[in-house]
Amino acid sequence: MSSKKTGGLAGVVAGESAICTVGQGNGLNYRGYSIEDLAKYATFEEVAFLLQFGELPNKIELQEYKEKLTKARSLPEKLKNILENIPKNAHPMDVMRTGCSALGAIEPEFNFQSEQDRVIIRLLGIFPSILLYWHHFHKDGTKLDTNSDEDTIAGYFLEKLHGKSPSQDVRRCMHVSLILYAEHEFNASTFAARICASTLSDTYSAITTGISVLRGPLHGGANEAAMKLIDSFDGIDEAVKGVYKILEDKKLLMGFGHRVYGEDGDPRSPIIKSWSKKLGGDTDTFKISEAIEKVMKKEKPQLPTNADFFSASAYRFLDIPTDYFTPIFIMSRTTGWAAHIKEQRANNKLIRPSSQYIGVENRNYIKLGDR
Ligand code: CMC
Repeated sequence: MSSKKTGGLAGVVAGESAICTVGQGNGLNYRGYSIEDLAKYATFEEVAFLLQFGELPNKIELQEYKEKLTKARSLPEKLKNILENIPKNAHPMDVMRTGCSALGAIEPEFNFQSEQDRVIIRLLGIFPSILLYWHHFHKDGTKLDTNSDEDTIAGYFLEKLHGKSPSQDVRRCMHVSLILYAEHEFNASTFAARICASTLSDTYSAITTGISVLRGPLHGGANEAAMKLIDSFDGIDEAVKGVYKILEDKKLLMGFGHRVYGEDGDPRSPIIKSWSKKLGGDTDTFKISEAIEKVMKKEKPQLPTNADFFSASAYRFLDIPTDYFTPIFIMSRTTGWAAHIKEQRANNKLIRPSSQYIGVENRNYIKLGDR
């Protein structure tokens, strides 16, 4: 397991789960529903309910769930103070991680069996408020008013970011993006959150763990990194030359490749690409993105675009700042993390694998003065 090719637990089945299939000849399904159907017909709140409770909600259940999520947007004064004291130039992922952890100290979970669903809903509801309170306080010195007529996370986030209600297409694209990012089996952040839960730790700690692991550019941070790559090129010719140079230098192109899907491709990618095209197909950003994709298809067909590549341009067309891309991933993936935390707890066994020792053996201890 120590070489690069066999490392990273690639191909290792690390446990059972009834939440999601990734690949396996079956595409991406959440609790048996295809990602294509969910992205076409569902709202993000229906998907969040499905992941949290195992079934799609009926009308009354959905209404009650949305009311709880809306109530959960409010920020305690102590958390506002903390957000005001996080530096203006901090990375928004630091804001989200700190906000989650701080809420765990302000509104602790004493008994996860009876309180986990309340805490999950609280976090889902409050995450947009955490980011946007910090954003507005440091950008224009205003304190976010969490009251809104928008009754969905997508609508609320966009309204509070831009100061106006989003258009229908923009709101729907946000729902789709949140649906696509919601769950993905034993990806690194979910597995880490499960490990945390397996020690019988609390929900806030497990979600904070997920946030910390999501941040890296090999995982959720790839959407931000992909946007920076696209932005670094002035036009199509420069982008084509730039991609060849990156490949020549054996560097990574963010937003390409996937551990599980491999060359079959990530089923989320065509869905978010179609939204990116719909909202910004005639822009340089979209044309450069497609040019990069074209070179990769020709030179590295085994590394197709993953969900993050066209999410980047889609978010640009929603007028979302680049360093908020991965925090949005948190607002969505909290549903998947939560489903896995609950599943882990329902049949818990401490996750504690072993390693193969490859270090030095049998050394004689040398006293400090003799070294
Ligand atoms: N650009 C250039 N080369 C690549 C890329 C890429 N994006 N991805 C893999 N390769 C190369 C890699 O360097 C290796 O080459 P070699 O055999 O010469 O050493 C070969 O392809 C096999 O790659 P690997 O690193 O063994 O594959 P992995 O399964 O460990 O990595 C991955 C999967 C997603 C980490 C990787 O494809 C990658 O780093 N992609 C860029 C980051 C990215 O987009 N991450 C988002 C992942 S999906 C959604 C999410 O979680 O957010």
